[in-house]
Amino acid sequence: MRKFFNARILLFVMMLFMLALAACASDKTGGDDQGNSNSGITETDNNEGTNDNSAEKKVIGFSQVGAESEFRTANTESVRSGLEAAGYEVNFSDAQQKQENQLKAIRSFIAQDVDAIVLAPVVETGFETVLQEAKDAEIPVFLIDRAVDVEADDLWVSFLGSDFVEEGRKAARWTLEEFEGEKDVKIVELQGTVGSAPAIDRKAGFEEILGDDSNFEIIDSQSGNFTRSEGKEVMEAFLKSNGDEIDLLFAHNDDMAIGAIQAIKEYGLDPGTDIKVIGMDAVRGAFEAMIDGDMNVTIECNPLFGPQLADLIDAYFAGEEIENRVVVEEGMFEMHEAEELLPTREY
Ligand code: AHR
Repeated sequence: MRKFFNARILLFVMMLFMLALAACASDKTGGDDQGNSNSGITETDNNEGTNDNSAEKKVIGFSQVGAESEFRTANTESVRSGLEAAGYEVNFSDAQQKQENQLKAIRSFIAQDVDAIVLAPVVETGFETVLQEAKDAEIPVFLIDRAVDVEADDLWVSFLGSDFVEEGRKAARWTLEEFEGEKDVKIVELQGTVGSAPAIDRKAGFEEILGDDSNFEIIDSQSGNFTRSEGKEVMEAFLKSNGDEIDLLFAHNDDMAIGAIQAIKEYGLDPGTDIKVIGMDAVRGAFEAMIDGDMNVTIECNPLFGPQLADLIDAYFAGEEIENRVVVEEGMFEMHEAEELLPTREY
């Protein structure tokens, strides 16, 4: 009887021990206390292969424009990997080029009390209220790639991205050289997403340089939303109404230029010769088009600033003073150098 009693105590102690073990294991694997299941387009990276200091890891909510172009895909990858390599946990949200998705994502990041928000805004306007909400919650916001147009300039910590106006100027300066001595040059313009900073600024920079020159005329200008398919569609419409008149296509990105090149070929003209083509971003697809003789020049818009962003955020958390505006350095590449440079291109 006494033996039986001891065995029961032993069994009871073992069960307690096993229960305690199971509780420990579920603590380590079960918990996402960030509440990351807010929408189908948000996901959290678990930083495989980086310093996995989960207890101390800061969480960064990253609201990206979408996946509309080669630039964007490269930018998403660079920002995610740059932040993860620096030891941050990234909570990623793809806005699919819709501002309403970004507003939802930012509010969800605020509700999750993330440590910082990285925002690449789809358009310039309409962010005032949500940025104020982030500020009230004491969550620092880092703007990347595109600017916002808000009255107060203390709603974000820093803006890291290209100088789009300068990119537009570069395209115009190239045009002046390429058509030097020619009169009555007819230009069609494929604009980026309506209301976005690159569409507004690139147009402004281009017109600033060419505006007063009566030898150049923009005969048609419409948005192709930064995508290949819409670039092709809009170019088909340009060709339908202006046909053989067009001398130059100024496309606000390479993807639209590549779509338009297809339309020009289908129309029976020779892109790069009959119609000169300017693209922007300097993605690998543009270099391939230049090697084929279809595109004349691409103005660089460099998406690979993830590590630079991570340094900026590190500095902020270390209490250092942060520049309010950091401009990414960029170049310009022409058809004659495309073959030599393609192997060196990283995106
Ligand atoms: O904001 C940068 C622009 O956005 C790129 O030039 C374009 O390709 C992208 O979609």
